[in-house]
Amino acid sequence: MNNQDLVTEIRQKIDIVDLISEYIPLIQKGKNYFGVCPFHNDTNPSMSVSREKQIYKCFSCGASGNVFTFLMDYDHIDFKEAIKILGEKAGVEVKGIKLNPKTTKFDRFYEMYDIANKYYQNNLNSKEGLLAKKYLSSRKIDDDLIKEFGIGLSLDKSNAVTTILTSKDYSMKEIEQFGLASNNHDIYINRIMFPLHDISGHIVGFSGRIYDDSDKNKYMNTKETIIFKKGECLYNYHIARDYCRKLKFVIIVEGFMDAIRLSQIGYKNVIALMGTAMTEEQIQLIKKLSNNVYLSLDGDEAGQRATLTNGEQLVKQGLNVKVIGLPHDKKEHDPDEYIIKYGKDSYTNLIESALNYSDFKINFLKIGVNFNSDLELSTYIDSVIKEVSTIKDEIRREIILKKLAIEVNLSYNTLEKRLNEYLEFQKVVNVEETAKPKVDVPKKKVSKYEKAAYFLIYGMVNDGQVIKLVEKEDVHFPTKELRYLASEICYYYHKYGSITMADFYTYLNDKEELLVVYNYIMSFQYNDEINYKAIDDYIGVIREYNLRQEIKRLSDLVKKENDPIEKAKIAEKIRLLKIGE
Ligand code: UTP
Ligand code: MN
Repeated sequence: MNNQDLVTEIRQKIDIVDLISEYIPLIQKGKNYFGVCPFHNDTNPSMSVSREKQIYKCFSCGASGNVFTFLMDYDHIDFKEAIKILGEKAGVEVKGIKLNPKTTKFDRFYEMYDIANKYYQNNLNSKEGLLAKKYLSSRKIDDDLIKEFGIGLSLDKSNAVTTILTSKDYSMKEIEQFGLASNNHDIYINRIMFPLHDISGHIVGFSGRIYDDSDKNKYMNTKETIIFKKGECLYNYHIARDYCRKLKFVIIVEGFMDAIRLSQIGYKNVIALMGTAMTEEQIQLIKKLSNNVYLSLDGDEAGQRATLTNGEQLVKQGLNVKVIGLPHDKKEHDPDEYIIKYGKDSYTNLIESALNYSDFKINFLKIGVNFNSDLELSTYIDSVIKEVSTIKDEIRREIILKKLAIEVNLSYNTLEKRLNEYLEFQKVVNVEETAKPKVDVPKKKVSKYEKAAYFLIYGMVNDGQVIKLVEKEDVHFPTKELRYLASEICYYYHKYGSITMADFYTYLNDKEELLVVYNYIMSFQYNDEINYKAIDDYIGVIREYNLRQEIKRLSDLVKKENDPIEKAKIAEKIRLLKIGE
């Protein structure tokens, strides 16, 4: 079986509606399914998915493709990885598949970190690693976890990893540039090393933790490089991805010790923020994991504040946010310590009793409010009502408001009146927001010839009969790109004996320029039924276009020609063409 056949087989076994539903909720409308497009900042469902054609298409940003392109773009993975994942899902053996491995100019540096990581891991098992091992064991990090998370140790020597790496032909300059050395010395000295990965799973840096009191900097992270952007880093993301999809939620913790612990007790759908404020890039990455986010940050004041600000940002993105609270009366302040002390079941109970973000916020707003101060009390009431106004569920709104009325000893009506004011205000804000022009919409003013060409191409990838017609009539498409695309369609059809839109996407995968043209063509609306009369008309339109072009070319020639005999010959040609017209 050749690659294209194998890929086609996988594609046929994976239904696109089922696949995309695992990532974004789809609603059926008529024959097609619609969902919020994950490839641009979409708020309305602009992505349509066709079960019949096995393709998706966004009417707003123009993204389109088949099951493979969806997965590749959604997960930022390459074609090979997409084949592997979908092949497994479809129960198709993909071992023999040969694809040119995608090399990047960073491979050399990924490899550098791999070498360093292996070296650090070895150290931990050597006798120099005994103390570090003892520390890890005191933190309940056992050998399985050490292996799973690739934890290692940098030695108490100033030229350990640098010696290894220079012996593997990395220059000191490169090692410094990628943050493992400075001034010709190792940067990481005597620290427990946690490898950090990018979303595709390459190691792109380290975080080194002290395990005695040798330094007041608890963790030392690799500096930012071209392959390591801190604002885009989320610990355990590459592992959590698949689990979040299956479990349909993601748990966010602060530190990677927390992430490791949650993973150990079976919550592998966990990512860690690594102690910083959440960036816009991280939010977009989180959105790709799940719509359901559980915040499980530290129980201290800083953790609670972070829960408030992070939760707010995530809610704004339309995510369902819940807050896992650590009991205040316990002194254990982070999920790691909590689980070590009270165990998995107890933490699972906390997950089950997690608060909706708005309930958490309302509780939070109350902290420290002096109910005897009119000003503090009214500010508190206002902030609660403002929060209530963001809740869509009317019943929940009423429940909270009723509780508040009793709590602050005011009438329900007074509070409701204020709530309605806020709701009115939000309507105005929402209208303004939706009225903003969409940025990504491609301009679609096309000539009648282009339109005819697009319809023909569309017909060709949907129906072999149209290909035969185009070949028989020897259609000459108006632009070079279209001619190239059409010839590839014909080639594909004759080689594989049939063609579908969905499979042709795969074929174009490594033909970037053609894929752009094809995507553009697919972004137009077409009738589902192929109408041969219309196809004939389109061929006619293109023929007319070619004729005009030829007349124009000859007319230009006539003007330039000095020889009267030649001039007459060309003029005659033009006359004949015009009769034909
Ligand atoms: P924590 O102090 O909560 O770390 O900081 P932790 O993961 O629970 O680690 P232990 O339990 O003390 O060993 C949360 C995260 O903030 C980042 C790390 O990513 C850490 O996981 N951090 C913290 C630093 O980058 N540097 C620091 O000095 C401290
Ligand atoms: Mn901790």
